[in-house]
Amino acid sequence: EESAKFVGAADSDFAQEGRRRVCQEAFRAVRQQLGRIYLPLINGEYVQTDTVIDSVNPSQVSEVVGKVGLVSVAQAEEAMEAAKAAFPGWRNTPVKQRADILRKAADLMEQRRAELSAWIVLEVGKPVKEADAEVSEAIDFCRYYAAEMERLDQGVVYDLAGETNRYIYQPRGIVVVISPWNFPLAIACGMTVAALVAGNCTLLKPAETSSVITAKLTEILVAAGIPKGVFQYVPGKGSQVGAYLVNHADTHVIAFTGSQEVGCRIYSEASILKPGQRHMKRVIAEMGGKNAIIVDESADLDQAVAGVVQSAFGYSGQKCSACSRVIVLQPIYETFVQRLVEATKSLNVGEAELPSTQVGPVIDGNAQGRIREYIEQGKQEAKLALELPSPSQGYFVGPVIFSDVPANAIIAQQEIFGPVLAIIPVADFQTALAVANGTNYALTGGLYSRTPSHIQQAQNEFEVGNLYINRNITGAIVARQPFGGFKLSGVGSKAGGPDYLLQFLEPRTITENI
Ligand code: NAD
Ligand code: ALA
Repeated sequence: EESAKFVGAADSDFAQEGRRRVCQEAFRAVRQQLGRIYLPLINGEYVQTDTVIDSVNPSQVSEVVGKVGLVSVAQAEEAMEAAKAAFPGWRNTPVKQRADILRKAADLMEQRRAELSAWIVLEVGKPVKEADAEVSEAIDFCRYYAAEMERLDQGVVYDLAGETNRYIYQPRGIVVVISPWNFPLAIACGMTVAALVAGNCTLLKPAETSSVITAKLTEILVAAGIPKGVFQYVPGKGSQVGAYLVNHADTHVIAFTGSQEVGCRIYSEASILKPGQRHMKRVIAEMGGKNAIIVDESADLDQAVAGVVQSAFGYSGQKCSACSRVIVLQPIYETFVQRLVEATKSLNVGEAELPSTQVGPVIDGNAQGRIREYIEQGKQEAKLALELPSPSQGYFVGPVIFSDVPANAIIAQQEIFGPVLAIIPVADFQTALAVANGTNYALTGGLYSRTPSHIQQAQNEFEVGNLYINRNITGAIVARQPFGGFKLSGVGSKAGGPDYLLQFLEPRTITENI
């Protein structure tokens, strides 16, 4: 009932000239701050580091967005000690006070919306409209988890005559948040504020390529009043500092979002008891997808083509929710392929900052190289239906469509995380579902159909955490489409949903004989 009442932040209306001007001014202001240094926050202080890396604009590689100080393992240990020292105070801070810090952070993000979205555009190459929606999502996570914690704080009463029974929640301890670069503000913010509002002290280790935006999140949490030691920003190398914190005996919860490879590794490392460790660690792992949209013979093709283009090529296919397979019934196959190719040809590929851009760059040179290898692989496995050219000055990959892709081809099985789409023809709807379910993943999925029996069957049999019928499959909204997958896409938790905070809490039952 609580979540039904939740009203999310509104995205900017770029049809209004005033809003477009605010956005341009934000870019101008942010450009004047490029190249500054951002330091880790440990025990309430910004600390110097031995290593500093450049975070560059993937649309314009020569542009250094910021310099980021990376923590050493010794500094990660200092942060852990500070978190432990701050925990007793934070766990005893009333929930209302903790929730109000999140609400204040949300208000600050709303005030800084255009600026935050400019940082997102410049640091990770996300087009402006999508960056703006990401700021809304971060704001929603703060407000929703604040309300959720207040709801849970009421506990449950099971009293009988002569006996009181109270069911309550307490924080678990130290949470290590390990975030990806593709939703650099929203996902880092969501995991962090959930951990904090539940009363845990929290260390945030962002992805190396998006550490400037998380430094902005840090500024906001500090300005919102988070006490020292309770939240700490520890940018560092995943394989070094990330792994150190995962393996630390004092870590209680690891909230990870990223690749399947790293998620599985964290899950196994967290299961090993370390000397002095007196608890089992809990791992929240949100991992990749190989998401499919099924288009059957009754689908509205105008709707299906637009939905597939948006789901496959939005943010250059770099969303865990992105569509990377379209499974199409034979009777409409040729028509659908032709129309999809035509629609994709009209996409503008260019610098993320330009208002006309629909497809920006990919995150870095490694990703560009990996995606290009998959495109070469695809040329061996299937028919190249479209390969759009890429601008040359940044890390661009133009959208690519393969048709006649066998369901078990490598490009139809592995997460590419780029603007590469595989179209798979099938003879009937039952086969379409079997193909859709025939990967290791179960994150998002879609169906375009006007056949009620197909819609019903998909609801029962399509194995995904988020199923979308007759719409695009990305852009889940907090408290409307709680988001997350199962199988090798994750442990089944749903960000922005009513069960999410429970993972950061320890339930206790207290019985008193009176
Ligand atoms: P990644 O796994 O490479 O990195 C994620 C984080 O893990 C980074 O902070 C990285 O530094 C850290 N890391 C790397 N090695 C580590 C180790 N050994 N121990 C501890 N931490 C380590 O992922 P990425 O490239 O940043 O993000 C893209 C991936 O994230 C894609 O697979 C995408 O599908 C997935 N993703 C999933 C969701 C979801 O909600 N399911 C959302 C966004 C992204
Ligand atoms: N929550 C993001 C989406 O739905 C990943 O696209």
